[in-house]
Amino acid sequence: MTENKIAIIGASEFQVPLIEKCKELGYTTYVYAWRCGDVGEKIADFFVPISVVEKETIYQDIVSKGIKSCVSIGSDITQLTVNYVLRKLNIRCNKEITDVLACNKYEMRKAFRSNGILCPQFMKSFTLPTRAELESFRYPLIVKPTDRSGSRGIYKVNNYEELCECFESSKELSFEKACIIEEYIEGKEYSCETISFNGKHTILSLTEKHTTGAPHFIETGHDEPADISIDENIICRVLDSLHIEYGAGHTEFRVDDKNELWVIETGARMGGDCIGSDLVPLSTGYDFLKMVIDTASGKEPDYTKSAHQKESHIRFIFNEKDIEEMNNHKIIKKSIKDMDFNNSVSDSTSRHGYYIY
Ligand SMILES: Nc1ncnc2c1ncn2[C@@H]1O[C@H](COP(=O)(O)OP(=O)(O)OP(=O)(O)O)[C@@H](O)[C@H]1O
Ligand SMILES: [Mg+2]
Repeated sequence: MTENKIAIIGASEFQVPLIEKCKELGYTTYVYAWRCGDVGEKIADFFVPISVVEKETIYQDIVSKGIKSCVSIGSDITQLTVNYVLRKLNIRCNKEITDVLACNKYEMRKAFRSNGILCPQFMKSFTLPTRAELESFRYPLIVKPTDRSGSRGIYKVNNYEELCECFESSKELSFEKACIIEEYIEGKEYSCETISFNGKHTILSLTEKHTTGAPHFIETGHDEPADISIDENIICRVLDSLHIEYGAGHTEFRVDDKNELWVIETGARMGGDCIGSDLVPLSTGYDFLKMVIDTASGKEPDYTKSAHQKESHIRFIFNEKDIEEMNNHKIIKKSIKDMDFNNSVSDSTSRHGYYIY
């Protein structure tokens, strides 16, 4: 029997469920990442120390080893490398246009608007806009780097003066040194997890999202299932507008008091924060990880549901009180990075850990 080899891009702890699932399915795992002591380095069958952004070098190495598929979860940067490799291996996947639209919040907004999807007013700027340029905008506004994630550089501003204070620090975090400025959308926040194959989309779950709120909107937890029902056609139109045809999708949205759905953004990848890897299988019985692995191997995903829990939750550790709260739950999985609560949490990468119950 020929050996089934798979490349996994990224070695951080959020890739661990994927590495474990590939092993469970009988694959020999080759994990590609920069060597920095990440957990994936140790649990991979083979660790290959090439930075996740070195697309062509990774592709050449994959070919030389006879590896037939490539996968990653939860990160735009690693997904771009996955798509590059899959295209060169002639495995059906999203086209380059999706890479552009799904990884830049301004390009994404334009795609939404031209496809008739409800959008707040927005603009892109490399320099602080003048008061006049924002005349038609209704405060409060959100300022964020066009091309980052993990809640880096997000600000809610109530007036022009506040915008002046934060514009530069938000812009500095952008790779292209630009911000998107958009009107603040009111309403409770959710996400929708999807899998697509050959342009057909399947809604897997709805997740309710909790954040710290203004100014930085760092995720504090997620609950599945969410307490809403939505028009699934809107999500399909959103995915179509970004030309998403294959693989996982993660659409974040708010629902206002008129029950209108306003999209915040869509990732052409699995939702991070353990949503795709843990909450979806726990609360729905869908084997989302296997679906992503199958899709990345050119196979139609298996939509069978297995026995599952009624609900699943993740909470992130910000302070000592969260540790106390954790002890009130029947924990399925936990990961505590550090207990140094003097270090304040400035974005989602500086949270102290999480637990799933
Ligand atoms: N226009 C908006 N109106 C209301 N809230 C917004 C808006 N834009 C962003 N937010 C809030 O900021 C959060 C982060 O925004 P966004 O998802 O665009 O950035 P991100 O850096 O990709 O974050 P993450 O990786 O955590 O999803 C959103 O989940 C939402 O709470
Ligand atoms: Mg987001």
